[in-house]
Amino acid sequence: MIDPNQTSPWYRRTVLYQIYPLSFADSNGDGYGDLAGIIDKLDYLGGADGESLGVGAIWISPVFKSPMADWGYDVADYTAIDPRFGTMADFDRLLAESHRRGIKVILDFVANHTSTEHPWFVESKSSRTNPKRDWYIWADPKPDGSEPNNWLSRFGGSAWTYHEPTGQYYLHTFLAAQPDLNWRNTGVREAMLGVLKFWLGRGVDGFRADALTSLIKDDQLRDNPADPSYVEGVSRPADRYFETYSAMTGELTSTLSGVVASFCDVLATQDDTYLLSEAYLGIEGLQQLYGACQAHPIHAPFNFNLMKLPWQAAQFRDFIDEFEAALGPDDWPNYVLGNHDVSRLASRLGQAKARLLSLILLTLRGLPVIYAGDELGLENGTITAAAKRDVAGEAAGESRDGGRTPMPWDVDGGFSAAEPWLPYSSDWHEHNVATEERNPSSMLMLYRQLIHLKTANPALTEGDYRSLDVGQTDVFAFAREAGTQRFYILANFSDEPITVTLGRIGTWIAGSHTPYGDGVAHLGGKIVLQGLEGRIYEERREEA
Ligand code: NOJ
Repeated sequence: MIDPNQTSPWYRRTVLYQIYPLSFADSNGDGYGDLAGIIDKLDYLGGADGESLGVGAIWISPVFKSPMADWGYDVADYTAIDPRFGTMADFDRLLAESHRRGIKVILDFVANHTSTEHPWFVESKSSRTNPKRDWYIWADPKPDGSEPNNWLSRFGGSAWTYHEPTGQYYLHTFLAAQPDLNWRNTGVREAMLGVLKFWLGRGVDGFRADALTSLIKDDQLRDNPADPSYVEGVSRPADRYFETYSAMTGELTSTLSGVVASFCDVLATQDDTYLLSEAYLGIEGLQQLYGACQAHPIHAPFNFNLMKLPWQAAQFRDFIDEFEAALGPDDWPNYVLGNHDVSRLASRLGQAKARLLSLILLTLRGLPVIYAGDELGLENGTITAAAKRDVAGEAAGESRDGGRTPMPWDVDGGFSAAEPWLPYSSDWHEHNVATEERNPSSMLMLYRQLIHLKTANPALTEGDYRSLDVGQTDVFAFAREAGTQRFYILANFSDEPITVTLGRIGTWIAGSHTPYGDGVAHLGGKIVLQGLEGRIYEERREEA
């Protein structure tokens, strides 16, 4: 819950929880999660009592009308709820019930492309002279009839599909069922800003902009250069070329920044809104996107870098130090450990490392982003050929189904009265909400405790961040501090115990292995950290 007595923007004082609605909770027994299911589970997420996870904001992946070629990321009507998820009345109720519990709601804004079933595309493909023709990116074949250039779809194959009746190709960065909108067209811009206005008018608190870096492409449609590191049969098919002309690079960046600024202008017409954008970029690229909304600093690109760093304390410290140093005074950091497009955190790292990294996530400066189920340590599901759903990911060389399995609420599953649309992960008997709520040292209870600790202590939200040298290369240590309050975080990245010698660092109050520490003040001397152990010490005023 967000402390209503503090005045800084809400996203500086809470955590963001991503809900993949198809897999969260099914209220009507059709096997698919829905909006009413989310409402039923809001008390699990937040509210005034200490029994909830303590989440202050949710981002809900698309719930708009869609033929579901990419499970909602192919939108046929941006201002209608897909019947699979419920009705607009359900949505309004979800918003009201979330707000009543102090939970902000962020919607997905799928701006790069629509579904081929969207009426705009139906019009656009109807003739070369249709007024909506230029709302999408159409191009003539080369003289030999082949594609206009070498751009590839992220989901495999060419990014162009030929449309026989009008004799041109249309561009799709993703599936052929997801034609790219032409963001150089003013009609598109106005219509899409209208979508933002529609949902803001209903009371949403912000958006997550999908595939943001793909929005602006080279207007001359030049070929992308080959990536020399590409290895046939080993690399992902889409990695054959750099995306020099088909995504955010060079001069395309300033045009894209203008588009992002127009989103911020709309969001800024309402108080307390926030925009997060999907951008798989290093520090320099993230900095450029932060710079896009200088007039209204209410935007941050997601920072996915911690998901890819080699498992070394120095790599994490150096990246975080560099990222912190690159941010301007108004830029608010964020860190993401998982989402519906990648393998589960606990499967990527194993349970022990997942716990340690979660402790780091929830104590760093910035907005922590949690993917539903990762707070349980849920692992990837094994999906048989017959149960596969992610045709798009499969075509890209990596099915995303394993990380999208249903949220296990209890020992019976508890997601749906029917057969779930995807099977549960096989570890759900162990990793489910009810079982973990009864185990004080479960991952869920660790998350609960750390989220409450963070949101209750200004030093852990808006306090300064400073990395510390504790004389051990395998230990990442940092301090968070505000006023007279200071926290020390020690994280042992090695599997082996490590001893650090430190002065007074306050009381050991929480940790990955010992949820509530030992409650004893460390007055100076040796501390033995177990393999992959993380600890939090709090130095209280009277000890300072
Ligand atoms: C990113 C989304 O997270 C992913 O699920 C989707 O397939 C693509 N964008 C296309 O919208």
